[in-house]
Amino acid sequence: MVIFRASYQFHKMNNTKIAGLGFYVPEKIITNHDLEKLMDTSDDWIVERTGIKERRYVDRKTETTAILARKAAERAIADAGIEATDIDFIVFATLSPDYYFPGSGVLLQRELGIAEKGVPAIDVRNQCSGFIYGLSVADQFIKSGMYKNILLVGAEAHSLGLDFTTRGRDVSVIFGDGAGAVILQPESNPKKGILTTHLHADGRFAEKLAMLSPGAHAGIHGNGEKYGITGDEEFETVIVNEKMLEDALLFPYMNGKYVFKFAIQKFPEVIMEALKTTGYNPTDVNLVIPHQANLRISQYVQKILRLRDDQMFNNIQKYGNTTAASIPIALSEARDEGKVKKGDLICLAAFGSGFTWGSALIRW
Ligand code: COA
Repeated sequence: MVIFRASYQFHKMNNTKIAGLGFYVPEKIITNHDLEKLMDTSDDWIVERTGIKERRYVDRKTETTAILARKAAERAIADAGIEATDIDFIVFATLSPDYYFPGSGVLLQRELGIAEKGVPAIDVRNQCSGFIYGLSVADQFIKSGMYKNILLVGAEAHSLGLDFTTRGRDVSVIFGDGAGAVILQPESNPKKGILTTHLHADGRFAEKLAMLSPGAHAGIHGNGEKYGITGDEEFETVIVNEKMLEDALLFPYMNGKYVFKFAIQKFPEVIMEALKTTGYNPTDVNLVIPHQANLRISQYVQKILRLRDDQMFNNIQKYGNTTAASIPIALSEARDEGKVKKGDLICLAAFGSGFTWGSALIRW
């Protein structure tokens, strides 16, 4: 009798650790008083409703989303003690890409001088949740053993596409520019690194916080008339047309009250999901770093979860809402201020356009 012995090779699953991080915000500071000169708004209104006092805007002659990303990435690469040439995968989260296509990931790869290596790059289009989505994607690639040095960046140059008239004031005063980056590597200790990630989406609310044009929707989701698209002309260009330009329909739209209502429900829900999955309570968390959507939203979340002030990190006062960049900027800044230490339990959470939301729990 011949006995066949199968030879199985088990791949030991690693956790993922944040081995380096860094952020970059443009030098130009725009205060609420600066915005008062452009539109009918006031420092009092902005501070009371959003907590924001100032934000940064790119230098229009030298900076784009990919360039902000490169500046943050260089800091994260140095922080991790690696070289740009060590990076084997790039994940780029943004809602303000340099081009409609290709994505900013390939531009970042070129900016870093590693294009010849052919390093793959993907763009993640999940807006305010982009960094958490990107982190979860990268985590799977590290766990599977496919990559060992992933560069994940969240970057935005919002100021290049906002309506700075009174018409756009509800959106324009909230957003700011910046970039944050992390280097992700395998972590062999199963009790350290990223312990869990949770991603969610509900497309029923896609148009509640959105920039619908330019876009290839041809008005089919019910916005045709407003955007001057009839569908009658066989070869009509519908991605962008004169009506969109004339009626200023190329700016982001937000139903603020709707977003607020969902955000204060989903943030606590998804944070609790991460804690329950890993057997922790809110009291066990050293620091919650929420996407910096609005200071009022963070304060609600803190109250619902009964977190102490020192368990909640906010820096929206200085940078505004930097969408996909806000969590890595906040995480970097918190670490630099000594608020993220070895052994700490750190919870990241986001909510935003899509709607999409997510969380990640990390043992530092
Ligand atoms: N300055 C001064 N007044 C403004 C203004 C601004 N920048 N933006 C809007 N207003 C006015 C409105 O026109 C309205 O005037 P009216 O009463 O004469 O019609 C008034 O302020 C109240 O507007 P409203 O939209 O009802 O205010 P609000 O209390 O809902 O606050 C937000 C607006 C945007 C601050 C709030 O809805 C919010 O924070 N939503 C969540 C937004 C968010 O976090 N987005 C990011 C998600 S990732």
